[in-house]
Amino acid sequence: MPIAKKDLIHLSDLTVDEIYQIFKKAQEMKEVLAGDDKKHPILRGKSVINLFYENSTRTRSSFEFAGKYLGADVVNINTSSSSVMKGESLKDTALTLDRLNPDVIVMRHGASGAHEILASHVKARVINAGDGQHQHPTQALLDMLTIYEHKGGFEGLKIAIVGDILHSRVARSDVWGLQALGADVTLCAPPTLMPSRADQLGAKITYDMDEAIKDADVIIMLRIQLERQKSGMFPSIREYATFYGLNAERLKLAKPDCLVMHPGPINRGVEITPEVADGVQAVIEEQVHNGLAIRMALLAIMGGAAE
Ligand code: CP
Repeated sequence: MPIAKKDLIHLSDLTVDEIYQIFKKAQEMKEVLAGDDKKHPILRGKSVINLFYENSTRTRSSFEFAGKYLGADVVNINTSSSSVMKGESLKDTALTLDRLNPDVIVMRHGASGAHEILASHVKARVINAGDGQHQHPTQALLDMLTIYEHKGGFEGLKIAIVGDILHSRVARSDVWGLQALGADVTLCAPPTLMPSRADQLGAKITYDMDEAIKDADVIIMLRIQLERQKSGMFPSIREYATFYGLNAERLKLAKPDCLVMHPGPINRGVEITPEVADGVQAVIEEQVHNGLAIRMALLAIMGGAAE
């Protein structure tokens, strides 16, 4: 079961058929994870480098566990203690890592498009673990797997993505993938946090959260990215929470079996109340577990071990 393109940088590097094959492989990996022995050493003799220029808990640790459970040698490069701090360029870092003969390099970088530079200088297959405001394809895959497992498909599903769309690479990957699989996607944000060319993403756009989530099958809440905000994008956290926060009362507008999702990390009490984040409709912890399974599946396939 190969993936035709060498690298996974944009979710659209995958065909719809390949996405479903990754789901199937991830579900096999979930069976491995449910067993007593999580070691499934099909990547023995292969090597994976995790190169993270930005902070991460979920993505970095799940890629590390994924590689180790599959028997690969995994090296984590923390850029704050690497030669990046001495001013080494991405190109020189790429040329250096290439000489170490890794099979897969997983990178998170703050600059949109950084992965094309890396991929053009290494023989290893490159997986994008998040670049700037551009793409987070493995997050979209785990989000879609979670929806698929609960809803059985995507055709006709009404999915609202609400929050800081402007800064969100998750939203850009989710909106492409969910629409490719047949869902009906609505984007909702304050006008200052909606990209100026959001209409080109193909989804419906609204600035009214109640309209966005009415009769929704799935609500994906996004984190307010305080580290990427310029001042004045919204008047106050309290006002943001009032107009764009998901609370139990507002959730009643959606279908009774509506899934509540969030890529994490959560700003509790800002974009989502603790009552909803911990409530019965929330599948946020399942998303994390599916992230491990999706990353195991991708490493197995892209590392050359999947039949
Ligand atoms: N959702 C996500 O990418 O989380 P981390 O930043 O913790 O990896």
